[in-house]
Amino acid sequence: MIGVFDSGLGGISVWQALYDALPHESLMYLGDGARCPYGSRSREEVLQFTCEAVERLLSEGCKMIVVACNTATAVAIKYLREKYPNVPFVGLEPAVKPAALTTKSGVIGVLATERSLRGDHFLRAEEKYGAEVKILKGVGEGFVEAVEHNEEHTPETAELVRKAVAPLVAEGADKIVLGCTHYPFLRDVIAKVAGEGVEIIDSSEAVARRVATLLDENNLRANEDATAEYRFLTFADKAYAEKLREKAFHNR
Ligand code: DGL
Repeated sequence: MIGVFDSGLGGISVWQALYDALPHESLMYLGDGARCPYGSRSREEVLQFTCEAVERLLSEGCKMIVVACNTATAVAIKYLREKYPNVPFVGLEPAVKPAALTTKSGVIGVLATERSLRGDHFLRAEEKYGAEVKILKGVGEGFVEAVEHNEEHTPETAELVRKAVAPLVAEGADKIVLGCTHYPFLRDVIAKVAGEGVEIIDSSEAVARRVATLLDENNLRANEDATAEYRFLTFADKAYAEKLREKAFHNR
């Protein structure tokens, strides 16, 4: 069983990439739900909640943990790797590198939560690529809430997306990095505002490839004849767990 964790529904975008790429692997998804969003919370809170979630997943016997949340990764991944040296962890970080290496306009936009943009991973990437490429930052205000409430396609959400994305395009960005796992659920809306010449970059498939590599390196791959099981846990209520399942299997 691979444990997949997020503050809420966002990590389902990563879950879907794992489901597609690794059909024999059982997945246990934990979406906090009770304390989402994490993006504007303190480091201490995000660290504490992430540790609680990881302990829960490990107590259920997970062999690997995917922290399918950029915010939790930024705050906790180093700590988790030190605390559990025998557990393979995969984290999420904004895909600045592929965007910076392929931009033609020399301008990229990164959309993420406030906490992720202040985290070491992003700051290091900014330092590394910021000299060559102009890196514009934007917080997707209200994006997480829109996804949590299944309101991706309302006029209000379209307006929130326009506010965050239009300035990036106006300044010349030809790549927009989705640095929060909730944002891929808004991909169509973001693409509509961004227009045709702009590529939207989401890390989920790259993360699934990384998970596959780590499974092989650690001899942890499920057998080819294994039938995968899918479980959904939450710190919220039963209805929320059902919501996670529905989101996961939507269009699958
Ligand atoms: N999905 C999360 C991320 O990737 C966190 C969103 C939030 O809880 O603010 O950053």
